[in-house]
Amino acid sequence: MSEGRFIIRGGRQLEGETVVYGSKNAATKMMVASLLTREPCVLENIPLSGETDITRELCERIGSRMSGAEGSRWEISTPEIATSVVPELSRKNRIPILALGPLLHRKGFAEVPVLGGCPIGHRPINFHLEALNRMGVRIERRAHSYYAEAEEIHGADLVFPFPSVGATESVLLTGVLAKGTTTIHNAATEPEIMNLIGMLRAMGADIRADEVRREIEIYGVERLGGVSARVMPDRNEVVSFATAALATDGDIFIRDASANGMQAFFEAVCALGGTCEVREDGVRFFGRRPYRRMTIQTAPHPGFMTDWQQPFCVLLTQAEGASIIHETVYDDRFGYVKDLCHMGANITVTDECLGGERCRFDGATYNHSARITGPTKLSGAAITVPDLRAGMAHMIAALAAEGESVISGIGHIDRGYAKLDERLRALGADIMRK
Ligand code: EPU
Repeated sequence: MSEGRFIIRGGRQLEGETVVYGSKNAATKMMVASLLTREPCVLENIPLSGETDITRELCERIGSRMSGAEGSRWEISTPEIATSVVPELSRKNRIPILALGPLLHRKGFAEVPVLGGCPIGHRPINFHLEALNRMGVRIERRAHSYYAEAEEIHGADLVFPFPSVGATESVLLTGVLAKGTTTIHNAATEPEIMNLIGMLRAMGADIRADEVRREIEIYGVERLGGVSARVMPDRNEVVSFATAALATDGDIFIRDASANGMQAFFEAVCALGGTCEVREDGVRFFGRRPYRRMTIQTAPHPGFMTDWQQPFCVLLTQAEGASIIHETVYDDRFGYVKDLCHMGANITVTDECLGGERCRFDGATYNHSARITGPTKLSGAAITVPDLRAGMAHMIAALAAEGESVISGIGHIDRGYAKLDERLRALGADIMRK
């Protein structure tokens, strides 16, 4: 984790143009998918963030050769699996569990490190483990790793209790080379998953995805080949830059941003009183207070994404009246709120389901709803970032605040955003990395 800090002097409107990078949450899974074949895979538009770096280490430990990894076009070749036993990495993210399927297909056994990732709730992996189990894989939890083996991986009819992104990806990466058909009911259908499916199909996989019914059918094939695939634009980056612009009464154009998978966000921006102008080559966002109060409920795609609520919460501190955010995906994703309050926001969190609808956390003691009363003036503060998207909320609050903020723990931010400080500076922000 980077020991550095960002020093931000807030109050400057963000203006001008930036370019959105490739999605880390698509790129990392596509890197793992390359392990399914001996042939070279070319991935375009890879972001150079901490997260792709950690995944690159995972692939290299397994035996992948990377070329072009200093730029955004990587060629990944794994003609031989050097080892399917990868118990430790220098840093952790949530990707290693996804490598089990590809490694099992190529070696029959595999060991991967336990997961890291942001502390935003319990984050169990029981759906992954139960699904792989049903497909013929035996998995043992060891002290710092998961060990798995299988004589034959076969298809299965799976019903997920919740449309989990990671579990859907685990099953895709395992089912493509399994014997027979695997069906996922209540699958996640995020655009990043469709990006992965597109790559797998181009490698020779046979997959049918019905996004409306949340049903994915994977017809196992004998082998997969090399591919050239492009990583989609990072939706979270678009949201982060857009909310930073709106929170500073700014006006920015995000080149290469697209409307794919962004509907719920665009609708929220318009309801708030901001504007999104979708063009062929990108999207322009601008807005000026007064902003209107809102009720937002996070949900799996096509709903308002859980990764967007933290930056949006900062915007709602500037809206007139009492707004609500009901977080229904993770049970503990309001850790950043106390820092926003320290900066002057008026936010309370509760374990109730606010906003009218009950979710699966109803009756539990998770603080998963927030009431935000605005508008409130924000002032600069010293803050330590607890996780990636919370870190972005702090950044946006600091950009909108009066005075200086010192943000520590920025390794979380670097894990998800490449060159964030440089790009914000180019939009007029007063930000320094120290
Ligand atoms: N869940 C289970 N059991 C499982 C899997 C998930 O109970 O086996 C629960 C989780 O605890 C959570 C919910 O299901 O409450 C959704 O989890 P999901 O599996 O969909 O999340 P993930 O795959 O771990 C990815 C992204 C997250 C993003 C979520 C939801 C990556 C590496 N991470 O996580 O991104 O918030 O999907 O869209 O793709 C981020 O980028 O900052 C980030 C946290």
